[in-house]
Amino acid sequence: MRFRASVLGKLLGRSSNCMQSRVPSGGVCDVTHLPGAVVTSRHYHPNGDPPRILITGSLGQLGSGLAALLREKYGRENVIMSDIIKPSKETWKSGPYVFADILDFKCLQEIVVTYRIDWLVHFSALLSAIGEQNVPLAIRVNIEGLHNVMELSKQYDLRVFVPSTIGAFGPDSPRDFTPNVAIQRPRTIYGVSKVHAELLGEYYHHKFGLDFRCLRFPGVISADTQPGGGTTDYAVQIFHDAIAGEHFECYLRPDTRLPMMYIDDCLRSLWEMLVTPENLLKRRTYNVTAMSFTPAEIVAAVQKHFPDLKVSYRPDDRQKIADTWPKVFDDSEARRDWGWRHVYDLPSMCDIMFSKLRAAGVENNTALADDAVLARGM
Ligand SMILES: NC(=O)c1ccc[n+]([C@@H]2O[C@H](COP(=O)([O-])OP(=O)(O)OC[C@H]3O[C@@H](n4cnc5c(N)ncnc54)[C@H](O)[C@@H]3O)[C@@H](O)[C@H]2O)c1
Repeated sequence: MRFRASVLGKLLGRSSNCMQSRVPSGGVCDVTHLPGAVVTSRHYHPNGDPPRILITGSLGQLGSGLAALLREKYGRENVIMSDIIKPSKETWKSGPYVFADILDFKCLQEIVVTYRIDWLVHFSALLSAIGEQNVPLAIRVNIEGLHNVMELSKQYDLRVFVPSTIGAFGPDSPRDFTPNVAIQRPRTIYGVSKVHAELLGEYYHHKFGLDFRCLRFPGVISADTQPGGGTTDYAVQIFHDAIAGEHFECYLRPDTRLPMMYIDDCLRSLWEMLVTPENLLKRRTYNVTAMSFTPAEIVAAVQKHFPDLKVSYRPDDRQKIADTWPKVFDDSEARRDWGWRHVYDLPSMCDIMFSKLRAAGVENNTALADDAVLARGM
């Protein structure tokens, strides 16, 4: 049976204790392999229906891939994509898509009610480099938007996932094997907003029982969508330049080591964290990563495929940001507590990036314009 909090409990903002039961017979939640797993039924309908999931900011780098993954697991109609920009025809045809401005609380309430949402994945954000260019907007989207998400999730008893980042650390944090708990004094508004999100989410969890889950991602590398203005974007751009036969100019110094992850690993870690039974989560915010490399190292790996690639380095403001971030991330607690394992390292990521970009026709300059590119008029 799915637990329903009493109306009074909801008005008081109190959430209920989870009832424990087996995985619904439809097998929608594949976590029984984890030792000691106790699966909770709170977020399933009494008949074992799969969860209904809303993704905010879903037209960015991570959203469409996550929607595809979740739709494969839970069904097309159960995953609602949303954003404030106009979707491409492909996105529009792929499943439910709605307009949702993260700053409009009523609009969010309406969507949660109309679509009977159980889980919320909150992707809307201004990333590190873009955030520094428009601090007031970053404060609105990343902080006020997060307040709406927290209240909404409390009000409707949603399981909520909010991504954090290596950018939630700063110059005072240990930069080699940065652990889950360390000094966090970031120097970007992006980092400040993410520390705020981690703390507020954990506070709502302890105070109101909110099922808040958060992973700190490193730089994410993907072939299908354009990056959204982060400090690690160079590690995507290099593949496009190499395959198009263009000169690659890197805005970071060649020795700038940062943690990174291929998108398939990133999205799988998110899903695994989403479905990990509560009793295995020793904390609500975990580091996850796959590899760490410098621009010089990725250049060498890419030159194995494209030996003629020409490279120059012209550090800009993003160098100052990167210099305060972890070089190597310690994700041993995620590996221990809920079995996180990455698949892609630098060479295997290069292989898959080039095969995907070739399949998309990027080398012939026939790459499909994705939603983000359309929206930004790039
Ligand atoms: N991509 C990475 O390397 C990376 C690394 C660590 C964490 N993250 C986190 O993952 C999440 C998704 O990242 P991404 O790379 O897809 O970001 P992105 O910048 O590509 O996409 C963000 C989306 O948010 C939307 N948005 C902006 N303002 C909005 C508003 N008012 N209401 C609703 N939507 C709005 C944008 O239209 C955009 O589609 C972010 O929270 C980011 O901080 C990403």
